[in-house]
Amino acid sequence: MRIRRKRHLEERLKTLGDILISADLDIKDVRKAVKDKKYFDFSNMFQNFRPVNLEIGCGKGGFITECAKRFPDENFLAVELLENIIVMAAERAKAEKLSNIKFFNCGADYLARYIAPGSLNKIFLNFSPPYSGLRYENRRLTKDSLICDYTEFLRDGGEVLQKTDDKDFFLYSIDGFRRHGFSVTDMTEYIKYNPNENIMTEYEKKFAERGISVFAFKAKKL
Ligand SMILES: C[S@@+](CC[C@H](N)C(=O)[O-])C[C@H]1O[C@@H](n2cnc3c(N)ncnc32)[C@H](O)[C@@H]1O
Repeated sequence: MRIRRKRHLEERLKTLGDILISADLDIKDVRKAVKDKKYFDFSNMFQNFRPVNLEIGCGKGGFITECAKRFPDENFLAVELLENIIVMAAERAKAEKLSNIKFFNCGADYLARYIAPGSLNKIFLNFSPPYSGLRYENRRLTKDSLICDYTEFLRDGGEVLQKTDDKDFFLYSIDGFRRHGFSVTDMTEYIKYNPNENIMTEYEKKFAERGISVFAFKAKKL
């Protein structure tokens, strides 16, 4: 399905300044692109040396913007594949005048070009498409090659936190992180939400309204 570009997208992108970064993918072949490193300098990007957390597939950015508000002593980088969507997320965070959040329009497979080893504190995967069926396994955000990348990106003791409504994807992801030596804890299936502890995403709010179970876990790099 082709997604129509939002009206006035170019003008909107221009007004966002450096809160929104676009991948400079001069090399389209992902295997070649990730070998040509263009690591982000996070101390320059955020103008401090605080821990950096990454969300992949941030959608409209509600979760990561709330994180940035609640945790001003940490930095947040939100990645989203679709320009149409990330523009809304970046506009929202810009309106909040937050200095500890940036958005990066890029596909997950290319992140190894930009994220230096050991540079991340946490990675959030919220309601990533489960891509049921083996035919689409290569698109999952917890396929083996991406778990290898996450292992590289995280500092020792760093964590991946995943939430999903899809039980098969939940079990598939837990199995993947365990096979890559992560310690998987805090596995939950919950319907009741504690807004003081759990920051809800846009998708999560929709599931909560419909009483749909949400699965979550934490995978720690040892
Ligand atoms: C179901 S939405 C969830 C959005 C948000 N995290 C939430 O929970 O409300 C999944 C998002 O992941 C993005 N996405 C899917 N595959 C991706 C990839 N390979 N790289 C970056 N983003 C991706 C999609 O474009 C979409 O916006």
